[in-house]
Amino acid sequence: MGDALDRRVTGGVIVNGELKEFADASLSVLDIGMQRGYGCFEALRSYAGRPFRSGAHYDRLVASADMLGISIPGGDLVEGWIADRSAAGGDCVVRVLVTGGLDPSRPGDDSRVIVYAEPLPDRSGPLRVSPRPAPWHPDGEFSELTGAKTLSYGPNLAASLAAQRAGFDDALLIGRSGSVLEGPTYGVAWITDGKIETPALDLGILASITRVAMLEVAAGTGIVATEGRYPLDRMLAADEVFALSTVKEIMPITAVGDRTWEAGPITARLARGFTALVSRELAAQ
Ligand SMILES: Cc1ncc(COP(=O)(O)O)c(C=O)c1O
Repeated sequence: MGDALDRRVTGGVIVNGELKEFADASLSVLDIGMQRGYGCFEALRSYAGRPFRSGAHYDRLVASADMLGISIPGGDLVEGWIADRSAAGGDCVVRVLVTGGLDPSRPGDDSRVIVYAEPLPDRSGPLRVSPRPAPWHPDGEFSELTGAKTLSYGPNLAASLAAQRAGFDDALLIGRSGSVLEGPTYGVAWITDGKIETPALDLGILASITRVAMLEVAAGTGIVATEGRYPLDRMLAADEVFALSTVKEIMPITAVGDRTWEAGPITARLARGFTALVSRELAAQ
């Protein structure tokens, strides 16, 4: 394996409970996770070797797997593998991938649960994003897999790459109805007149674990938050805008297309509150 690939993995890779060298961790070319993107995944943040909200990530993984008809090992096992790779990676991102297995008519048969740690990205923000149409997104319409964090992230990745080619850091997905949805790998929120607005989960956006934590911090500091369906103009008229994800945490967005902002004080307050919440929870583990 090339060095560039090796650098994306810290330590070994757990495949169905067995720790393997990165170069020995493999998948059948027949696995429908690879052939059809049929499977699901999670990305967790590990702080100094301890995962944040591993239980919530496991629950979301089970919810995704249920929608796909894949049964996965119990939380004691999967969270144990997550804890193991967190400890190996220190400050890192832990990825959990569940493949659909070998038989498209019986998802889950011979599937693989893969857990590994990867280094944190070098860049920590702020973020400049380009609004892009996302006609593949549920945008409030529901189908079998709405809300599942499946392996089928092709359209999301293509939107990110198109935004990067246009000189931005990432894309901001806009639904068929014109609603602001989320980023390809992050949620969004903004501040208008001292209050938070954020797209509602019933749009079919991912139930972001960082978003939940941010709303807890907001409630604890008396900042009012509203969830809804908002057009892009509403976001562009905001005083501050920020991104939410396990990897980005609470990160200022300083450009949406041509509209620019400075990183704002309420975003900074929420980010500090998030860091404090993480420290409290990890200290209590
Ligand atoms: C589409 C999408 N939205 C939002 C998020 C943020 O979710 P979380 O805060 O749980 O990382 C992600 C994270 O991977 C994502 O892929």
